[in-house]
Amino acid sequence: MAKIAFINSRYIEFKKAKVHIEDRGLQFSDSVYEVVPFYNKKLIDFTFHTKRLKFSLKELQIKFNVNEKKLEKIFYKIISLNKIKNGIVYLQITRGVQSRDHAYKKNLIPNLIIYTINKKLNLPNRDFKGEKAITYQDLRWKRRDIKSVSLLGNVLAKNEAVKKKAYEAILVDNGKITEATASNVWIVKKNRLITHPSNTDILRGITRESIRKIIKSNKLKISEKSFSLKELYNADEVFITSSGNFVTPIIQIDSIKINKGKIGDISLQLALLYSSLVINE
Ligand code: PDD
Repeated sequence: MAKIAFINSRYIEFKKAKVHIEDRGLQFSDSVYEVVPFYNKKLIDFTFHTKRLKFSLKELQIKFNVNEKKLEKIFYKIISLNKIKNGIVYLQITRGVQSRDHAYKKNLIPNLIIYTINKKLNLPNRDFKGEKAITYQDLRWKRRDIKSVSLLGNVLAKNEAVKKKAYEAILVDNGKITEATASNVWIVKKNRLITHPSNTDILRGITRESIRKIIKSNKLKISEKSFSLKELYNADEVFITSSGNFVTPIIQIDSIKINKGKIGDISLQLALLYSSLVINE
């Protein structure tokens, strides 16, 4: 059976799913998105993703009423139609179509796009390994807390990582680490977990929030404060978190080995605790 997408109110063959050439999402990145992982056909943290979606829409004043129950039904139906067990649901809402003008008209009709991507989720099993990252200048706009598709800074950085055979690019803004192109960054120093505070400089990751809760309930020490490139290089452990890639240990950054190139104990402990949450949810 052909792959199925959902556009506005219809399930449609993936190949036939199209938006207009004057869709503002295409012309101005005037659009928000969410990536929701599912494991064994079960959505992970769906409510938190819809909450963040509502926040992004509100910040950009895109008038789309998110009906959580209805959306959840569509998500489960599209997972089932596409017969996928593990992967992600991609959702995008654009402001809508209008004749090209930077200023948007008030009563546009947003376009809702939903489809699934088959993906092996990064659980700490036999294949679990540490990854390499590079550092790259953070070229993005200043509202990174909004999950908008304005992602060119992320795209250029990730492309550089791929060129250098690295898994991720960690972004540096004025000497400080913000996050990575599609994940939040954590360091461990003297058994304390450190990550950038959730302000407008980073995306408030759903996985980051779950890890925060796990850290607190396991009585580990945590500081939400920004840290420098030097602190990143000198960290005892480094890992990144995101939907789908969950907890991914980083064992080399640029030419610097972290924890002698091995997965650290705390990173592994958190990866295991998080994966048991996902599997048993
Ligand atoms: N990215 N920071 C950025 C810039 C991100 O794009 C993401 C997620 C995260 C982690 O957020 P979460 O834990 O909610 O996935 C942090 C998604 C996966 C993407 O763009 O594909």
